[in-house]
Amino acid sequence: MKRTFRVSLAVLLTMTILSFSLPAQTKVGKGVSITWYGHSAFKIVTTKGKVILIDPWLDNPKAPSSARNIDRVDLILVTHGHFDHIGNTAELAQKFDATAVCNGDIAAYLTSKGVKKTAVLDYSGTYEVDNLKVIMVHADHGSSIDNNGQKLAGGNAAGFIIQCENGVTLYHAGDTGVFGDMKLIAELYKPDIVMIPIGGVYTMGPKEAAKACELLNPRLIIPMHYGTFPALTGSPVDLKSFLPAQLKGKVADILPGDTVN
Ligand code: NI
Ligand code: MN
Repeated sequence: MKRTFRVSLAVLLTMTILSFSLPAQTKVGKGVSITWYGHSAFKIVTTKGKVILIDPWLDNPKAPSSARNIDRVDLILVTHGHFDHIGNTAELAQKFDATAVCNGDIAAYLTSKGVKKTAVLDYSGTYEVDNLKVIMVHADHGSSIDNNGQKLAGGNAAGFIIQCENGVTLYHAGDTGVFGDMKLIAELYKPDIVMIPIGGVYTMGPKEAAKACELLNPRLIIPMHYGTFPALTGSPVDLKSFLPAQLKGKVADILPGDTVN
């Protein structure tokens, strides 16, 4: 009895030491990790270790240097054609042989830039790989592509629902105004974590984003698309001031480069 106890204790200690020495991002098979690279750019590492980039504009003025340390990418989700969202997609998709998930117009543009793998979706469409689901949802926003000064049609702007292998569900709203069907998104997909723009001018500001959060009722709110340029004045403090009491504590307090697990 005594010996068994000692062995288990040793195993337990080793496991504890190991789990403390591993950096957060390498916790494969446990939680989902979300790293913010500034503006609307995120890296999601799913429960099974799939690496997803969303709107990877890694040259944005607030991008941390760690944004250039990415060593694996499986999927790149592009919400719409504006340069601050397509960002470095063409370069990254080729470098990592990743699949770009986007609308047909953006897929055609990326293909013309040398991207080999694209998955075309439209609203309510699902892309599924190894029990991971990506669903394109509505966004109220424009979408044109700047091709070296020439404007190309960019299709409809979108948001994405990401259903991880363990059921954890994320919603990246892209660039959008607030719209009533966020209630429908909440009913259908029950997002645990939402990434929503709060900067104003081109998207929701704090007041509208607070209404969006009410409609979505998530467990965690990650504000984005603010502070990148002086014009994007909305702030998490402003967002909290408009949120109902039960949601105020759910706003993630993160800076570009930070990871939430
Ligand atoms: Ni935009
Ligand atoms: Mn934008």
